[in-house]
Amino acid sequence: NEKITVSTLKKYKQTGKKITALTAYDFPTAKILDESGIDMILVGDSLGMVVLGYESTLPVTMDDMVHHTKAVTRGVKRSFVMADMPFMSYSISKETTMQNAARLIAEGNAQSIKIEGGCEVAPIIKLIVDAGIPVIGHLGLTPQYINQLGGYKIQGKDMEKAKKIMKDAKTLEEAGICALVLECVPSELAKDITENISIPTIGIGAGPYCDGQILVTHDMLGITQGHRPKFVKQYANIDEIMKNGLKNYVNDVESGSFPSKEHSFTTEKRENK
Ligand code: KIV
Ligand code: NA
Repeated sequence: NEKITVSTLKKYKQTGKKITALTAYDFPTAKILDESGIDMILVGDSLGMVVLGYESTLPVTMDDMVHHTKAVTRGVKRSFVMADMPFMSYSISKETTMQNAARLIAEGNAQSIKIEGGCEVAPIIKLIVDAGIPVIGHLGLTPQYINQLGGYKIQGKDMEKAKKIMKDAKTLEEAGICALVLECVPSELAKDITENISIPTIGIGAGPYCDGQILVTHDMLGITQGHRPKFVKQYANIDEIMKNGLKNYVNDVESGSFPSKEHSFTTEKRENK
């Protein structure tokens, strides 16, 4: 039960041991994931949609990320914690980018940060890595670029786009990333990238050949309402469990069967009678 580090992840890639990863945004969920042996926990900017109710990840701020990262890391002993750099937090200037990255590590207590994008973000990633902060890359469907991508859809289906993503992966590897998230790309492309870079690939909607797998916890546990993407396998139905519990509570309170004596306090005098 040793703490997972960048060396552990590298070793997993070399020995072929699959890496398990999930998202968390709060203390209790992080604790459950950590105790369940999940190797990597991502404080994703998906928190914008999953726990803050926004339509996209774009409104998520650095303050949001630091706040949730602090809660998550308080609950984690073993897992490797990564925190997302939110929209525009690495695009304005070197100075603000470095300050923002530092906040997730120094205030948030994360072990690494994740940045969306290819060749265009490689120089800034190199600076962050040189400052001593492990960086995770993120290619394929990159939700912060949604207005350019024109929708949440698979990326790299045609040869030209696939080549570009492969080149991005190589460039990010050279910039010093310690792992690479591949989101919504064809299995063949994910396999190709996984075989051609020395750092672990973590897939989501990227098929079976990546070195590891990540999902949004709320999706795979059935807490998220509404549309569930094709690549999500649902492992529990927490939504239903919660609704059943709540229905019973409403029934009990309305019928007067809760609270009963068993859940109530009395004065000392009366207790002695
Ligand atoms: O924010 C997030 O949850 C992510 C994963 C989907 C990789 O970036
Ligand atoms: Na994200």
